[in-house]
Amino acid sequence: MVTGPDGLLIGEAPGVDGSTDARIARVRLSGQVAVITGAGGGIGRVIARAFALEGASLVLADVHGAVDAAADDARRSGVRAVALMCDVTRSADVESLARRAVDELGGLELLVTCAGIDDPGLLAEQDEASWTRVIDVNLNGTYRAIRAVLPEMMRRGRGRIVTIASVFGKTGGFGFITAYAASKHGVIGLTRALAAELGSQGYPGITVNAICPGYVRAGMGIRTQSTKAGPMPGAEIFERYYKRQVPLRRMIEPEEIAHLAVFLALPESAGITGQALNVDGGYVMS
Ligand SMILES: NC(=O)c1ccc[n+]([C@@H]2O[C@H](COP(=O)([O-])OP(=O)(O)OC[C@H]3O[C@@H](n4cnc5c(N)ncnc54)[C@H](O)[C@@H]3O)[C@@H](O)[C@H]2O)c1
Repeated sequence: MVTGPDGLLIGEAPGVDGSTDARIARVRLSGQVAVITGAGGGIGRVIARAFALEGASLVLADVHGAVDAAADDARRSGVRAVALMCDVTRSADVESLARRAVDELGGLELLVTCAGIDDPGLLAEQDEASWTRVIDVNLNGTYRAIRAVLPEMMRRGRGRIVTIASVFGKTGGFGFITAYAASKHGVIGLTRALAAELGSQGYPGITVNAICPGYVRAGMGIRTQSTKAGPMPGAEIFERYYKRQVPLRRMIEPEEIAHLAVFLALPESAGITGQALNVDGGYVMS
């Protein structure tokens, strides 16, 4: 038995009579290997922790050194974790993800693509380099990560791919995020089309789904951003511009994104593919 963060006991299932302490974690991803890009970020790190608590071995990739702390965090849960400096705009970096997973951790069942940037601003004022950068990290970076792991998943005939899109991949947002919204629409398109392609090519064991977070209390959701009224912390942007349009009237916690990512990796979700699932307090209802 291993003791994880916060004293959670790893490896013991709750008793059938329901009497076992609810804080005892289940280990439903034991024996599986997950690659997570953007794993040093606010949401990525919480997803990595959730996967670790479920027993998955992890390849954690990011351009930021915070990925080392994410890997240390995972190891404290008793799982193996490899931290990689990996820029999703560089094919050579991304191509190593599958090899590291297979060679060092012995498998590759799961991919979560969390790497992303927002770079808010007005389209007419931002230069082409800004547009290109956002598309290259968010959309092309998601493509590169999928392209890197897919042959191994196809060889095994099974795999779970979870892309992190956004509700702004379904709506235009509120202005100031045109490149970001365009990139996330692209991520959803990529997710749906790839799910159809894999099914039609005889790979029913590989599912591809997008999570579309609303305003999350982590990462770019709480950082200061440009708005028409000037720079503003994310929580204030939520209060001023979003809250009234969100039925639950609150921001989303990063753990709520992680719960769905874990579910999409479990056997219980085997029938779900090509979906873009909102975790947004009801902001978008389609
Ligand atoms: N926080 C929110 O409210 C929110 C809402 C909707 C969607 N999202 C999406 O969730 C994902 C995670 O965002 P977050 O809020 O945790 O922000 P974050 O900035 O904390 O995390 C993003 C991570 O991606 C990494 N990254 C950036 N460029 C990279 C590159 N070229 N190669 C590899 N890694 C790179 C960053 O270093 C960072 O660790 C993003 O795709 C974001 O668009 C976030």
